[in-house]
Amino acid sequence: MVAKTFSAMHWGVDAIKIEVEVDYTKGVPQFVIVGLPDAEVRESKERIHSAIKNSGFPFPPGRVRVNLAPADIKKEGSLLDLPIAIAVLSSFGYIPPERLREYMLLGELALDGGLRKVSGVLPASILAKSEGLKLVVPSANAYEGAVVKGGKVFGLSNLGEVVKFILGEMEIDPAEFNETQTYPEYDVDMEDVRGMEYVKRACEVAAAGGHNILMIGPPGSGKTMIARRIPTILPEMEEEEAIETTKIYSVAGLMPSGEGLITTRPFRAPHHTVSEVALIGGGSVPRPGEVSLAHNGVLFLDELPEFSRQALESLRQPMEDGKVRISRARGSAEFPANFMLVAAMNPCPCGHFGDKTKNCTCTVSAINRYQGKISGPLLDRIDIFINVQPLTYDEFRNKKGEKSSSIRERVRKAREIQIKRFEGRGIYTNSRMTPRMIKEFCKLSAEAENLLRMASNRMGISARGISRILKVARTIADLEGSRDIQTHHIAEAIQYRQNVGEYWMT
Ligand SMILES: Nc1ncnc2c1ncn2[C@@H]1O[C@H](COP(=O)(O)OP(=O)(O)OP(=O)(O)O)[C@@H](O)[C@H]1O
Ligand SMILES: [Mg+2]
Ligand SMILES: [Zn+2]
Repeated sequence: MVAKTFSAMHWGVDAIKIEVEVDYTKGVPQFVIVGLPDAEVRESKERIHSAIKNSGFPFPPGRVRVNLAPADIKKEGSLLDLPIAIAVLSSFGYIPPERLREYMLLGELALDGGLRKVSGVLPASILAKSEGLKLVVPSANAYEGAVVKGGKVFGLSNLGEVVKFILGEMEIDPAEFNETQTYPEYDVDMEDVRGMEYVKRACEVAAAGGHNILMIGPPGSGKTMIARRIPTILPEMEEEEAIETTKIYSVAGLMPSGEGLITTRPFRAPHHTVSEVALIGGGSVPRPGEVSLAHNGVLFLDELPEFSRQALESLRQPMEDGKVRISRARGSAEFPANFMLVAAMNPCPCGHFGDKTKNCTCTVSAINRYQGKISGPLLDRIDIFINVQPLTYDEFRNKKGEKSSSIRERVRKAREIQIKRFEGRGIYTNSRMTPRMIKEFCKLSAEAENLLRMASNRMGISARGISRILKVARTIADLEGSRDIQTHHIAEAIQYRQNVGEYWMT
C-alpha cells in the first residue's frame, strides 16, 4: 500500500514543504529511504524501526520504500522521523492513508517511541497554516508553534499518541499561546555604575535609536561593566520583532523547552576567537550566526581589535543591510541581522594612550598597528564613539546612579515615536533610516545646518559620517520629544563623532 504525508524543513527562516511517501509490499524485508544524506539514513531507520516496535505495532516483513521530495533539498534527517514512521504505519494498514492528507508532522523519535524536541517549528507552523494543514509536533515544541495566530498545532508526547490522535481515538485541544508577557528580570542594573554620566547618556542615546556604539578606554574603566547593562535599558520587543527573533532561535534549535515566544531582546557576546561562520552564519543547511541571533538586540564585541580581521570585515555587509545572505547550490538563504553593535576596546596595546591618569608605554607604530586592525569602513558604520575615563576615587564613593527602569522608560518613549514614524516602512529605529528617509525626517534649522557644515569641514567627516550624525541627532531630539532637530541635538551628535579624534592616531 502507498501512503503519503507532509512535513517541513527550514531554509533560512522559512519552511519548505516536504512530501513523505511510503510504499510497502510484502516479501523479503528491506527498508530503503531515498532523499536523505547517507550517513543519516541508517540512524533514521534504526530509530523508526525501534520506535514502531516499542510502541506496540508489529513491523511486518516486506519491502518498505520511503521517498522524500523535493529531492534536491538537503535534509536534516531526525525531524522527519515522525512523518516517516506515521506514513510507514499507514502503508502497513494501521492508519487509513486519506487521513494523513490533512497533517503536517515534525518530530524526532526516541527508540521507545517518545517524541523529542526539534528545531524550526515556528516557520513550519506558519507554512502549515497557509497550507491549511494541522501541525503535529513534540509537546516541548507546542507553544512555539502556537505563536502563529489562527493555526492548529497539536503537541503530543509519543508515536502511539500520534496514531491515536490521527485515528480520532484521542481528543486533544490545539495548543494555545498565552501572552503573559512580563519584563525579564536582570541581575545587573545601570545603577551599579557610579559616575560616568556621559557614558550612560551615550548608551541611552544608542539604545533609543538602535545605534552602534564603540567604547574606548583604559583597562578597568568600566567598559565591559556598562556594555553588559545595555540590555536592561532596552524596551521589550514589539510582537512583530519577537516573532522575527523567535524564528531565528527556532531554526537554530535554540528555543528553550516549553517556550513560545522570545520576548527578551537578545544579548550575544561571542568571544574574540569566534570563527567567521559562527559569527555570520553558514553550513550546508544554512544556520544563523551570532549576528542573526542578536537580531533586534545587542551584539557585544568586547576587546574589538582581538577579533580576526576576517571576522570584523564580514560584519560590514550585515551592518549595512540588516541581514545576511548565505549562497548555496539550491539558491540562497537569508537571515535577518538587525542588531545594535556594542563594541569595547583599549586605545593601544598597553591600554593607556589618552589616559589622563597613566602614561602610555607603546610606540607610535604599535598604536597604529593596534588601531589599524579596525578598518575605516567598519569605523564608518559606528554611530557613537565614547571615551571612557577611569573613575576618580571621589566619583567612586559617590551615590548610586539612576536605575535602569527609569532610563528604559525614556528609551521606550523615544522608540514609540520612531515606531510611529516608520510604520509600514519595515524599520523600527532611526539607525536604519535610508538616505531618502534621512532627507524626509532630519530637516535642520538654518542654525543647526550651519553648525553641521562647519563641523564636518573642520573634522573632515565623510558623507556617511554626516548621515550618521543626522540619525543620532534625530534620536536625541526624539528622546526630548522634540519634533524638530535643534542645534543642541546636532551638537551632541557631533560630539559622539569627535570622540574618535581624541584617541585615534590618524
Ligand atoms: N563606574 C563604575 N562604577 C562601579 N564600578 C566600576 C566602575 N568602573 C569600573 N568599575 C569596577 O571595575 C571593574 C572593571 O571594569 P570593567 O571590567 O568593566 O573594565 P573594562 O573597561 O572593561 O576593562 P578592560 O579594558 O581591562 O576590559 C568592574 O567590574 C567594576 O567592579
Ligand atoms: Mg573589558
Ligand atoms: Zn599604550
